[in-house]
Amino acid sequence: MAEESGEEYLFKIVVIGDSAVGKSNLLSRFTRDEFDHNSKATIGVEFQTQVLEVDGKEVKAQVWDTAGQERFRAVTSAYYRGAVGALVVYDITRRTTFDSVKRWLDELNTHCDTAVTRMLVGNKRDLESIREVTTEEGTELAEEEGMFFIETSALDSTNVSKAFEIVIRDIYEKVSRKILSSDSYKAELSVNRVSLDLSKQKSYFSCCSS
Ligand code: GTP
Ligand code: MG
Repeated sequence: MAEESGEEYLFKIVVIGDSAVGKSNLLSRFTRDEFDHNSKATIGVEFQTQVLEVDGKEVKAQVWDTAGQERFRAVTSAYYRGAVGALVVYDITRRTTFDSVKRWLDELNTHCDTAVTRMLVGNKRDLESIREVTTEEGTELAEEEGMFFIETSALDSTNVSKAFEIVIRDIYEKVSRKILSSDSYKAELSVNRVSLDLSKQKSYFSCCSS
């Protein structure tokens, strides 16, 4: 057991969903309180770290963001490896992005244990006038899939921190109850780079035996 003072938590959380649903802006809003009206499609993988306090403990959330477009994506198994939380994002103004949620969940389930905390996120809530997916539809799908559900706006900040905080708190509770372990991934994360070496470390709670 770590000593009280030295205890720290590092949680890897992945953000997935179709291109242009607002994944990168949700991340920049959460970690830097920034929004970009003209953001470019993500190429490869990026991550940002945000420190939070949960029950008086320091928790580092390392949030990973990748391209929604297949051709810009990096090695999938490396992206998911060690993740303890996932945000599956769609755009409430584009039904096709909601229809894709099942595919993203299939990919997530292929690579991650069911204990991984999942949240369905309906983004662009500020665009109510051109909404194509109702809140009820989102709620229903999340219930079916056993996920949390929230509608957000990266543009006006609505529910962005809340979305991440709910996920982080749930992971924290699972880790405290030993349903999940994030320890196995610490070594790699501490080098602070994206390692694509698939031969290394097997995490004992989750993803990607590779
Ligand atoms: P990929 O990297 O291609 O997978 O896309 P992405 O999901 O990261 O989308 P990104 O964050 O780049 O946002 C796409 C576009 O939607 C940009 O023009 C953003 O400014 C816009 N956008 C993102 N979030 C919101 C939001 O909450 N409301 C509105 N109105 N626009 C948003
Ligand atoms: Mg992006």
